[in-house]
Amino acid sequence: MAAQIGLIGLGTMGAMLALNIAEKGFQIAVWNRTTAVTHQFKAEAGALAGQIVATETLAEFVAAITPPRSIILMVPAGPVVDDQIAALKGHLGPDDLIIDAGNANFHDTNRRSAAASGYRFLGMGVSGGEEGARHGPSIMGGGAREDWDRVAPVLEAISAKYEGTPCATWMGPGGAGHFVKAVHNGIEYADMQMIAEIYGVMRDGLGMEAAAIGDVLDGWNKGPLQSYLIEISAAVSKAVDGGKPMLDVILDKAGQKGTGRWTVIEAQQLSAPIPVIEAAVMARNVSARLEERQAGEAVFGAAPVALPAGAVTVAQLEQAMIAGKILCYAQGFALIVAASAEFGWDLPLPDIARVWREGCIIRSSMLNDMATALEQGPGRGLMLAPFFADHLKAATPGLRAVVSAGAAHGLPLPALSAGLAWFDMMRTGRSTANMIQAQRDFFGAHGFERLDQAGKGLHGPWGGHMV
Ligand SMILES: NC(=O)c1ccc[n+]([C@@H]2O[C@H](COP(=O)([O-])OP(=O)(O)OC[C@H]3O[C@@H](n4cnc5c(N)ncnc54)[C@H](OP(=O)(O)O)[C@@H]3O)[C@@H](O)[C@H]2O)c1
Repeated sequence: MAAQIGLIGLGTMGAMLALNIAEKGFQIAVWNRTTAVTHQFKAEAGALAGQIVATETLAEFVAAITPPRSIILMVPAGPVVDDQIAALKGHLGPDDLIIDAGNANFHDTNRRSAAASGYRFLGMGVSGGEEGARHGPSIMGGGAREDWDRVAPVLEAISAKYEGTPCATWMGPGGAGHFVKAVHNGIEYADMQMIAEIYGVMRDGLGMEAAAIGDVLDGWNKGPLQSYLIEISAAVSKAVDGGKPMLDVILDKAGQKGTGRWTVIEAQQLSAPIPVIEAAVMARNVSARLEERQAGEAVFGAAPVALPAGAVTVAQLEQAMIAGKILCYAQGFALIVAASAEFGWDLPLPDIARVWREGCIIRSSMLNDMATALEQGPGRGLMLAPFFADHLKAATPGLRAVVSAGAAHGLPLPALSAGLAWFDMMRTGRSTANMIQAQRDFFGAHGFERLDQAGKGLHGPWGGHMV
């Protein structure tokens, strides 16, 4: 049997992706470093086993695929990908295509794309976790358009569908797909953090039980906040273990694999502000410092404290979440615009919003409206799109009330506060950076522009104090 595609790496994601591909009617050859895993995978594939060619050596694997070959790598990001490419490339011809589907840093994908010689290379971000990989992930591709087009029928078939439209899109050359996936993950961190902050206000500020919080989130999932993350947050809030709410016995130290950090680092490199995502990454780092937090509590007393009756309503919390979410996405898309300009990618903003509508962790009903807004006003920030500007006008008073109450009573709301501060900065025509410019000129003679006079590099009347 000749396979139409190959896959290397039958771990959590690779195994599910391979079953998904087989289920869509494609013959797939598989190879795994540990051969026993390959055989076990086929043995457990049930009715799909007939679609799967299990191979023991790379030579056997490559020979099992019809040329020109397309080979998906689903191994840990980093040096393993380079090692696997090095082991594979001697077996390939110039039209054979390697597709790195792991969570690569897009700089690595740029490098691997440029270095591809004697074979072709695509970098592909895959979101949706194990479940998505099995039944329909969101797929963000990067590399040569013709290579994407060649493999698109398989990728579109296995991807999630939004009202019939595949959530599998070519984003641009080189590392464009992995960059968009990194921003997706940054937004994922921020969405999760804002939900956690709102949960904290309900748990600590309003004294609500986990199940009651789950009911509130379930209600929100029927409105503008409808999304996978709200849905699963409701589910985990309602879950019980040994008679206790599951959430109440889970240690409050959040893990991470670093993709949120990459997004923040890149945003800093590009001078593209994404404070909500930055706050979310910071909050995970702070959460990990459990002993330090406990020492802080011993010195300063326990915070947070309960809010006075009526300080914040559940309706205001919903508004805060809506506003925070719009502001977070506005920042994320602005980062994508900055990267697109810097790397010459011409990233398709509405298509990015569309590819996130299904299959991925940040899927939500709001993304469809975002796609429309980005289509109608290319070059205009999401915050200024009339649909979202109206939402923000309605929702920011709630965000302000929640952030104020948090600040007044010791409930930490880093991501929501960062969103509100950014919103207020972005609607302030006359900022306070005149003070910064004066300071810079005072100590470093950096010069400034004046409102009442033309010219650059002007100086203040503090000559004698300059160093
Ligand atoms: N898990 C998720 O939800 C998720 C979501 C999106 C993207 N991703 C990305 O998908 C990629 C795979 O993740 P995963 O969760 O499927 O990982 P995993 O379950 O740990 O599986 C890793 C796979 O890579 C193979 N492998 C490990 N080291 C290797 C090496 N040195 N040489 C050759 N093969 C090697 C393993 O083979 P053996 O059986 O021999 O150990 C296994 O098949 C990662 O880049 C990850 O970041 C994961």
